[in-house]
Amino acid sequence: MTEDTRVTLVTGGGTGIGAAVARRLLEAGEAVAVTGRREERLHAFAKELGEPQRLLTLPGNAADYADVSGAVDTVLARFGRLDAVVANAGYATHDSVADGDPAGWTDMVLTNVLGPALLIRASVDALRRSGGRIVLVGSVAGFVPTPGNLYGATKYAVTGLAENTRRQVTDWGIGVTLVAPGRVETPFWAEQDVTSLGRMLTADQIAGSVVWALGQPAGVDVNTVVVRPLGQPN
Ligand SMILES: NC(=O)c1ccc[n+]([C@@H]2O[C@H](COP(=O)([O-])OP(=O)(O)OC[C@H]3O[C@@H](n4cnc5c(N)ncnc54)[C@H](OP(=O)(O)O)[C@@H]3O)[C@@H](O)[C@H]2O)c1
Repeated sequence: MTEDTRVTLVTGGGTGIGAAVARRLLEAGEAVAVTGRREERLHAFAKELGEPQRLLTLPGNAADYADVSGAVDTVLARFGRLDAVVANAGYATHDSVADGDPAGWTDMVLTNVLGPALLIRASVDALRRSGGRIVLVGSVAGFVPTPGNLYGATKYAVTGLAENTRRQVTDWGIGVTLVAPGRVETPFWAEQDVTSLGRMLTADQIAGSVVWALGQPAGVDVNTVVVRPLGQPN
């Protein structure tokens, strides 16, 4: 690692899209920190990659400010800089406001909506110093209404947070990109019957969009990227 090596913090980076982003950045020679609640998943991911020196695994909850600011502090202490954050941690309860289980909703709303805001708050000073970038992983469900879908409403909030944040930090030299995927084949769909969903993107395909946004030349700020698999009409 040299002092020019770029450093990215990815929440929920032990599986799925976040892990695919981390893998691509590591392959490009960059340094990455990944967070997640389940330590064993983070360890398994690091092991799978051969435990590279440029990968930091940081167990923690994206909806807990002490965990999030602690992760930023650890990254700065270990790598000395922070160039980008990817607010990726999130999940769906896959139920509806009319007949779902409210017991599952609090954590989902806090993870999906509060989580990205906490990450921005914790990292903005370091990103201002580096002229860095913020990527928020939203969803097509944050653009297209789905009957009864509270998860979709959390992603509408992410759509709004991305643009509201951009309007505040663009003068500070920080880029903000909302990447809104359609269906992606990841553990997000575990325990769901996906056979009727049709074609899905791979995690690596959507990671390509995240890494593309992160790799824009200085002065270029890609704001919104919506990517669906062919055959997903809504
Ligand atoms: N897959 C899709 O079709 C799709 C489509 C549009 C948008 N998205 C969005 O893409 C993002 C990534 O999801 P994915 O598809 O890659 O699914 P995934 O493989 O389940 O990834 C989600 C990751 O977030 C972590 N996570 C969840 N809650 C967390 C919390 N409170 N604190 C820290 N980490 C947390 C999970 O690890 P732990 O459980 O160990 O914490 C997991 O590693 C999510 O924001 C999701 O809403 C997915």
